[in-house]
Amino acid sequence: MVKLAPRLRVVLTAFVVALLLAGPATAQSDPIRIGVLLPYSGVYTSLGENITAGLELFLEETGYTAAGRRLELVKQDTQGDPRQGLPKVRQLVERDRVDLLVGVVHSGVAAAIRDYVHARRIPLVIANAGDPSLTRDPARRSPYIFRVSFANGQYEYLLGRYAYEVLGYRTVVVTAPDYSAGHDKAGAFKQYFEQAGGRVVQEVYPPLGTNDFGPYLAGLQQADAVWAFFAGTDAVRFVQQYQEFGLKERMPLIGAGDMVDEAYLDEIGEAALGTVTSLHYSPLVETPENRSFVEQYRGRYGETANQFAYQGYLAARVIAEAIEGVGGRVEETDAFLEALRAVTFTGPAGPFRFDPTSQNVVFNVYIRRVDRLPDGSLGNVVIGRYENVSDSW
Ligand code: PHB
Repeated sequence: MVKLAPRLRVVLTAFVVALLLAGPATAQSDPIRIGVLLPYSGVYTSLGENITAGLELFLEETGYTAAGRRLELVKQDTQGDPRQGLPKVRQLVERDRVDLLVGVVHSGVAAAIRDYVHARRIPLVIANAGDPSLTRDPARRSPYIFRVSFANGQYEYLLGRYAYEVLGYRTVVVTAPDYSAGHDKAGAFKQYFEQAGGRVVQEVYPPLGTNDFGPYLAGLQQADAVWAFFAGTDAVRFVQQYQEFGLKERMPLIGAGDMVDEAYLDEIGEAALGTVTSLHYSPLVETPENRSFVEQYRGRYGETANQFAYQGYLAARVIAEAIEGVGGRVEETDAFLEALRAVTFTGPAGPFRFDPTSQNVVFNVYIRRVDRLPDGSLGNVVIGRYENVSDSW
């Protein structure tokens, strides 16, 4: 052992003690770094951009602080490509040293990063990707994974019953992109439509990112209606081409609300009129909280709020409230997870809370129909509501 002069020993000891005392205090005055994993290119670009707009709207309102700590966003473009999931999350965690993660649009990206965030104990607040297994399956769910958006199936199943009982359809064709989200959403609709007494006569799964739906539309069988889920550029092209093919007069279009979301409803235009869908949001939900959200959103961006912006806004709010809940100490992971689980408030589309077992959101589901509004624009008018819908159905 090296012998130190007594004076040096005292100085060194004082230095070490000072470091120990200063350590945590310094860490807590550091900014909290939030890694954002979203598609800023590819078929789901508009989803990523709108989720970001919602996140930033909330953070701007709070001056990018929570519990006195500054919040910083570090963004990575996942391109909506499952192969990009792992490299991008590793950059955020290992290079950028983020404290937590938010975002993820494509279920395949969420599935690809699940084991990593679980093993590294990084809290992840999912703002879109609906892979049900991540919250539903006891072997796949994780104490580090929360979802403020939806599980695929959670709002689709209710339209299955509605289509039979209220709309009076007896036969339906379903169509969705050929990956897990498409199959999970269509499967939920089908299960409940058939339980109610209806029959799905055909299932059509074009690849994600299809430009020309012609060959698929040409092969559609006659039924009372077509149920569809598409999002991003797929939604714009599918709904427009559905009308161009003259199918709208033959079979009404119904589906997942994502398909006619305000994020691209104007771009779809007339072709969307009359489409009945289910979703956990509409900018036309009549609550004081939603009116003020929609107004703020318009004030900031000059556009109508939409599903994805809403999900981003919820994610930011949940994260900020949990940070407040632990007095800024996000580094204390277990306490932070506990604070996330406890977040509850009345949000724009109704009460917000997590199911304590799955850590997936419990929400209201709205049945909506695309109508022309008095100001001449298109909007998703609310025609039905289910309250307190969890992902156990
Ligand atoms: C998903 O991949 O889970 C997904 C993607 C886009 C949506 C909804 C779900 O609009």
